[in-house]
Amino acid sequence: MSEHIIELADISVTFNDGQQKVNAVQDVNLQIDTGDIYGIIGYSGAGKSTLVRVINLLQMPTTGRVTVNGQQLQTLAPAALRQARKQVGMIFQHFNLMQSRTVLGNVIYPLLGQKISKRDRQAKALALLKLVGLADYADTYPNKLSGGQKQRVAIARALVTDPQVLISDEATSALDPKTTAAILALLQRLNRELGVTIVLITHEMQVIKSICHHVAVMENGRIVERGPVAQVFTAPKAPITLDFVETSTNVRAAIQRITRTIKLSELAANQELIAFKFIGQATKKGVISQLSQEFKVDVNILFANIDQIDGQNVGDMIAIITGDITGFNAAVARRADQGVHTRLIDEQVVKGLSD
Ligand SMILES: Nc1ncnc2c1ncn2[C@@H]1O[C@H](COP(=O)(O)OP(=O)(O)O)[C@@H](O)[C@H]1O
Ligand SMILES: [Mg+2]
Repeated sequence: MSEHIIELADISVTFNDGQQKVNAVQDVNLQIDTGDIYGIIGYSGAGKSTLVRVINLLQMPTTGRVTVNGQQLQTLAPAALRQARKQVGMIFQHFNLMQSRTVLGNVIYPLLGQKISKRDRQAKALALLKLVGLADYADTYPNKLSGGQKQRVAIARALVTDPQVLISDEATSALDPKTTAAILALLQRLNRELGVTIVLITHEMQVIKSICHHVAVMENGRIVERGPVAQVFTAPKAPITLDFVETSTNVRAAIQRITRTIKLSELAANQELIAFKFIGQATKKGVISQLSQEFKVDVNILFANIDQIDGQNVGDMIAIITGDITGFNAAVARRADQGVHTRLIDEQVVKGLSD
């Protein structure tokens, strides 16, 4: 087994849409570790679906090489490619179930035409229905199921050919938050119990935060940032990543709300509006209260929020500090390696938010 179950090298996909050329994916290099839960986040039109369709060659790349489990797919003869494609299962936002077949009939479907007895097919499909919590629904038709149940059927169907990779393309986007959480928990359990590598496409940071270990951020067909989820979302570098983070943590809305009522130009010379971020251990210590006493600085908290990213606590706080701000700021800056980060909120930051 190779360390990287998926390797995309120099992938570009260009669509010729009449006169227009659409560069849906541009120069993407991506390695996904075996057993990982890898998130790909981006706004609509970023190229996420096109990119993941390349993984099983549902979409032929215009340039680049696709390697799954050590096999470069473009070099395979048709029969070998059909076999290799079975290593990648997919689920979608709209479930794509066949209404005329029962739940069991849907799950069995990918096995039809394969060398497996009817009895074994049924046993396998039933075992998977049990695994996704739908053992009692084998004979039910899809139109009798809730959205969450339909997605469970789709998951069982995707797993019936024993894929090593499961791609989820916005699979929770049509579900309510509670059902979304249940489906994500199921995917996490399948990753642990079956060892299936999961590639999770979404436009919602909440989805990535709950179960992914790594994330790539896509914009205009390119991966603009990537890494461990906690690292990418606690120290975002690309503006679009910061955008996702601040939307998800409500920091952006808080800054806008605060600066509508408090005019930055009216702050005194010994006052600053500061956004603090506390990561990991820093969320458990009273760093700010210690330093505010030491430097005789007043901290007037206007917003505070604590969140979990890949199992790690991340706190946000917005406050006006008053007093010896130079000494206080220098002392806080020295705590960066302990997970304390600050950002001055000035006119430029506020202007950037409203653009
Ligand atoms: N079959 C196609 N023909 C032409 N353009 C396409 C096709 N599929 C996708 N696109 C375009 O490629 C870009 C990326 O689309 P897509 O991969 O669906 O993005 P996402 O999944 O991130 O929303 C969009 O501009 C979209 O309109
Ligand atoms: Mg899409």
